[in-house]
Amino acid sequence: MQHTASESQSGKTLPHCILVIGGYGNFGQLICKALAQDANIRLLIGGRDGTRASAFAASLGSAQACGITINAQAADLAVQLQARHVDTLIQTAGPFQGQNYTVAEACITARCNYIDLADARSFVAGIGGLDARARAAGVLVTSGASSVPALTSAIVDHLLPEFSALFEIRHGISAGGHTPGLATMLGVLGYCGKPILRLENGTWVKIYGWQDLHRHRYAPPVCGRWLGSCDVPDLEIFPQRYAGVQSVVFHAGVGNPVSHLATWALAGLVRMGLIKSLAPLAPLFMSVNRWLEPVSPVVSAVHVELRGLNHDGKAHSKSWQLVAFDNHGPQIPCGAAIALARKLADGKMPLKGATPCVGLLTLEEYLAALAHLNLTQVMM
Ligand SMILES: NC(=O)c1ccc[n+]([C@@H]2O[C@H](COP(=O)([O-])OP(=O)(O)OC[C@H]3O[C@@H](n4cnc5c(N)ncnc54)[C@H](OP(=O)(O)O)[C@@H]3O)[C@@H](O)[C@H]2O)c1
Repeated sequence: MQHTASESQSGKTLPHCILVIGGYGNFGQLICKALAQDANIRLLIGGRDGTRASAFAASLGSAQACGITINAQAADLAVQLQARHVDTLIQTAGPFQGQNYTVAEACITARCNYIDLADARSFVAGIGGLDARARAAGVLVTSGASSVPALTSAIVDHLLPEFSALFEIRHGISAGGHTPGLATMLGVLGYCGKPILRLENGTWVKIYGWQDLHRHRYAPPVCGRWLGSCDVPDLEIFPQRYAGVQSVVFHAGVGNPVSHLATWALAGLVRMGLIKSLAPLAPLFMSVNRWLEPVSPVVSAVHVELRGLNHDGKAHSKSWQLVAFDNHGPQIPCGAAIALARKLADGKMPLKGATPCVGLLTLEEYLAALAHLNLTQVMM
């Protein structure tokens, strides 16, 4: 099957058909807004609420975009994908923690490419189990096409040539004040206060979600921010990807200190066994966060710090930050799905098989998909 474009019954070449599941959700909307501009893409905006999907599609003002009702968990998903001639499916319908691979498997059956935004550690790390089937079907199946691990690995790959040996990766994200979607909230709150394993100085140590509270100093105007530990795919994937690395430490936080510290305190109660999980509180967290938005920062940042040896065998370190202004930070997670979808539509992604989303995009390619945003790279 040719995935750059499909052929209609009249023999006319159809544009590459991309279905965004969760297309009217928080990140889905941003991905759809970007792809609706591309003349060589036919965009299907999908979710369980067809009315919302159609209304959002109409708001894009693109003849190439249309809303559809679709349930990602439908038993006949593969049949629906074939009937609609979908070439690439972008799956944003999380949380991915606890999900299985039925959507990716339906894509393989329907011989269409699959890209998801998952941030669930074992889900992303395990996607390679579908590699043989994806190769046989001639499709790309990739998981984690978002900030972690797609952007973070692209940054490490970009800085790696300076090092002859890499020992330590310390990285993280400080969000601004924008309230994320329900799926993102459920995913993060689900591991707050729960044990997480991460590699530190060559040993796997147990830490706890949203604990390990500390201040991180970003470049102005972000400056000092509270961060805590998170359970991200990088903790599993980076020790395998970067040979010799002894520590992979990831932290994240939200820009509003009240929000961050309240989450830290509640995560502490989960850790002590006094609360089972913060996930059921997701709607409450979202309401409070929306209420705090006017007094929350509109700048956010991603940081990556590497330590190792340079090519003279001397100790070497590098610190890289991406600062987002004007509340543009929440668009950063969408860069990978947009860039990959465009590469597939242009026929510039020859890779077939199933893999976590590492090594598929360079940092330049990722940032090119976000070129319209107010972002600054800071190297130290
Ligand atoms: N890897 C990373 O760095 C990273 C960073 C940020 C976020 N993420 C991930 O991005 C995902 C999306 O986040 P978000 O903030 O955009 O969430 P969201 O606003 O809640 O969007 C999820 C969308 O999926 C749809 N949906 C849910 N279940 C569905 C189903 N069974 N079939 C079809 N559609 C379904 C929802 O619409 P209906 O309920 O109306 O169907 C909604 O539109 C999250 O899971 C999060 O883990 C990853």
